[in-house]
Amino acid sequence: MTVHIGADAGQIAETVLMPGDPLRAEWAANTFLDDPVCVNRVRGMLAFTGTWKGNRVTIHGSGMGMPSLSIYANELIREYGAKTLIRIGSCGAMQEKVAIRDVIVAMTASSLSTPSRGIFRELNFAPCADYGLLNAAVEAAKGTGANCHVGGIYSADVFYDERPDLNEIMTRHGILGVEMEAAELYNLAARHGVRALAVLTVSDHLLTGEALPSEDRQSSFGDMVQIALEAAFS
Ligand code: HPA
Repeated sequence: MTVHIGADAGQIAETVLMPGDPLRAEWAANTFLDDPVCVNRVRGMLAFTGTWKGNRVTIHGSGMGMPSLSIYANELIREYGAKTLIRIGSCGAMQEKVAIRDVIVAMTASSLSTPSRGIFRELNFAPCADYGLLNAAVEAAKGTGANCHVGGIYSADVFYDERPDLNEIMTRHGILGVEMEAAELYNLAARHGVRALAVLTVSDHLLTGEALPSEDRQSSFGDMVQIALEAAFS
């Protein structure tokens, strides 16, 4: 047990998928894993451990935003020995070529700030994905039929952003989409020598105002779980 995770030692797998929403963790575990067991429900943050094609996997919610993800990822890595962490989540598109339902595999994650700011201070550290995972996810995405983009994303601190000028700068610099967790996941992975990746589906479009209809969210989410599992064990 740790401060925020109720699992016993040994109940967390070395491979952890991290959706933001704990109910999505439950759905993914029940849909994709054999013999899923709930191993955390502290503060309603659900986690399940089971197997996929014989490989042990934990699916653990991250909550929304980098401070929340940082709590769980730190404890998963430092206390439970997680070695591969893959965020699966949604993002807002920032390029015309990116459409609703497309998949973005995040090579890098820019930010204004992260919870690691206190460590990096004047250094503009460049958080980036594990190349092996990234490559495997791109291959896996081909099997889902999803239109897949690989490149930089933006990890924002606020969902209700009042700085449209920043979005314009991101778009002008080729940033594919915006979400709120990946940069700190990549920072932590670098610090602790583990593998990390973020696989995202586009749920809304900042340039067109379009949004994914709620009935389509489950199937897009399922594609991401499939891509993440195949990448982790390729
Ligand atoms: N902003 C931040 N995070 C998001 C968005 C967004 O527009 N869409 C999905 N996650």
